[in-house]
Amino acid sequence: MALRPTVYIETYGCQMNVSDTELMLGKLTASGYESVEQPDGADVILINTCAIRDHAEQRVIGRLGEIKSKMKRDAVLGVTGCMAQRLGSQLLDRVKHVSLVIGPDGYRELPSLIESARGGVKATAVDFDLEEHYEDFTPRRFDGVKAWIPVQRGCDYKCTYCIVPTTRGPERSRQLSEVVRETEAVIASGISEVVLLGQTVNSYYDGKHDFADLLRAVGSVPGIRRLRFTSPHPNDFSERVIRAMAEIEAFCEHVHLPMQSGSTRTLRRMLRRYTREKYLECVDRLRAAIPRLALTTDVIVGFPGETEEDFQETLTAIEAVGFDDAYTFKFSLRDGTPATRFPASDTISDDVASERLARLIATVRAGSRERNMGLIGARREVLVEKSARRGGLLQSRTRDFKTVMIPGDVSLIGKYLQVELTGTTGSTFLGQVVGQRAALPMAV
Ligand code: 5AD
Ligand code: SF4
Repeated sequence: MALRPTVYIETYGCQMNVSDTELMLGKLTASGYESVEQPDGADVILINTCAIRDHAEQRVIGRLGEIKSKMKRDAVLGVTGCMAQRLGSQLLDRVKHVSLVIGPDGYRELPSLIESARGGVKATAVDFDLEEHYEDFTPRRFDGVKAWIPVQRGCDYKCTYCIVPTTRGPERSRQLSEVVRETEAVIASGISEVVLLGQTVNSYYDGKHDFADLLRAVGSVPGIRRLRFTSPHPNDFSERVIRAMAEIEAFCEHVHLPMQSGSTRTLRRMLRRYTREKYLECVDRLRAAIPRLALTTDVIVGFPGETEEDFQETLTAIEAVGFDDAYTFKFSLRDGTPATRFPASDTISDDVASERLARLIATVRAGSRERNMGLIGARREVLVEKSARRGGLLQSRTRDFKTVMIPGDVSLIGKYLQVELTGTTGSTFLGQVVGQRAALPMAV
């Protein structure tokens, strides 16, 4: 029998992209491909890309150059994901050893397009398909401890800095019954933590059910121990959704709530559709409903027209909320976004943006260090995720999304333990195991 052709997929960008890679690998392995860990010698190499900042795209261009020297002469190299969608056939012209360019709604065509490419026919597939949820694909999951389940694709917000509406198209939600079916399959496979994914996940609406319904349905699948979602939009936290979060036992006490800026003037120019006050009010509503809620966020500095006063408002908002952590970014101007229409005089120089970024990071770190120091001595339930890179320790996570390094061997991966937090680097913790909770009987 002939050897099965091999496929290697490398993933950049967000969790949605990781989830798409799992779908692609599922489809390709079901179509007879064998998944391999290295590009060298693979028959098919796919680079699943991100377009969110210029830096993300430059990394991919560099990587495509490196791969040229590693790939077999007759290998097929494809670019998928957001950068593929954004650049389309330009990519085929720009990078001659690429023969496939497939956007986020084109993965159904993968096996046939790869076959054509192996026969020498290059192809681009960048049409949006508003019905596409890949329901009949069985994802090949990388993580054995938690499962990412997409519940929504695309985005209908039009934040002026953001390329995502261009690369992932209009928002559409999966049917609630399909999400529940996938959750049941995940639980049956031994995974007990589920993360629901969407670009503005809490605007979920499948024509009948809203995000509160979805949370309640997924949260009551027998055997689920932890339920999270990412990323919500502050405007879509209805009382129904917040009540569902508070009432569902599996819902973990952590919300990643992108703020982007603490200045109402900048938020307006970003078209975020909320003010500083509304954002802070959303934080208060969430905290009032869910005691001990951890909050993380995304912040952009150097947005066109951002003044020092605007930036100060971001710093004071960070301090006012007391985030557990924040992902911080320098604004990157993306072709095709509304931000390109601000006058050139609004551009913030790279020096100023870098200096603001440094101050922002220092503020975030100081805040999270203080919060984390306050947790020393506390007890938490952790789920053991994987071996840590250093020190022969295991990496585990609390419900409120703290990373805790604990001693122990790999047989503990996937188990729930009680730990005491004994030390912190400021961002991650060291923990001592104080007990192991019996696994819940799995209803499968
Ligand atoms: N420049 C910098 N950061 C951006 N983000 C989105 N678009 C841009 C951009 N053009 C950030 C936002 C978003 C996160 C995923 O990436 O903070 O929440
Ligand atoms: Fe994810 Fe946005 Fe990057 Fe696309 S552009 S991979 S949606 S972060």
